[in-house]
Amino acid sequence: MQQLLLLLAFILLPGDEAEKIIGGREARPHSYPYMAYLLIQNPEGLTACGGFLVREDFVMTAAHCWGRSISVTVGAHNIQRRERTQQRINVRRAIRHPDYNTQNFTNDIMLLQLSRRIRRNKAVSPVALPRGAGERLRPGTLCTVAGWGRVSLSRGTNVLQEVQLRVQGDQTCRNRFRTFTTQTQICVGNPRKRKTAFKGDSGGPLVCNNVAQGIVSYGASNGTPPAVFTKIKSFLPWIRRTMRHLQCLTLAGAQA
Ligand SMILES: *[C@@H]1O[C@H](CO)[C@@H](O)[C@H](O)[C@H]1NC(C)=O
Repeated sequence: MQQLLLLLAFILLPGDEAEKIIGGREARPHSYPYMAYLLIQNPEGLTACGGFLVREDFVMTAAHCWGRSISVTVGAHNIQRRERTQQRINVRRAIRHPDYNTQNFTNDIMLLQLSRRIRRNKAVSPVALPRGAGERLRPGTLCTVAGWGRVSLSRGTNVLQEVQLRVQGDQTCRNRFRTFTTQTQICVGNPRKRKTAFKGDSGGPLVCNNVAQGIVSYGASNGTPPAVFTKIKSFLPWIRRTMRHLQCLTLAGAQA
């Protein structure tokens, strides 16, 4: 049984190197306009996660990326630079799935309501979510994951990386992770290849045929595939309900 590792990263000091996607390459700048970079402030320190725009005022990420204060940057390629395409926005409310379990990482999904709408342009726009629970994601499907996480056990990056990964049969993850749950998780990444999501990629999307199907959740601590992704399709009713509720709260607040 593998030791599990949540794929979030502590921000390291300048000069120190962090980790990211393994076996990938630098993305063409702004070819993933839905990608968001999250900085999370907690008493223990500052951590980073990925996330993705699902609407002009909502970012989706993993529940384990929750923190006291979260800032969102969209339109970025190099997160250490001040690029003109970047929009930095605070989070108004961060709602973790109520059944998120910190022991076995089930229901690892969170919605961030932004304090204002992003300005949509070529570098910034939301990604589609699955339409219904009926759509099946077959093993073998080729998908992409993007992130600013580590490129090896010890090496980091400032520029967005991308990697293509194949959806695996559930058995591949059941054999590796005791906590794998077929109904709400997707098993991703061929165990015979040296390509996977890693520390710092948490919360980023698995995009298959232009639809966000998964959220980077956890993997093996030695950075070998497969990794486990939250299955977005199984949370559609919660996603719709939560967005509607938060929007109502905001409207009520504006009128008060
Ligand atoms: C995760 O933990 C919860 C609460 O203890 C439990 O109900 C659920 O069955 C667990 N799931 C897995 C896959 O271990």
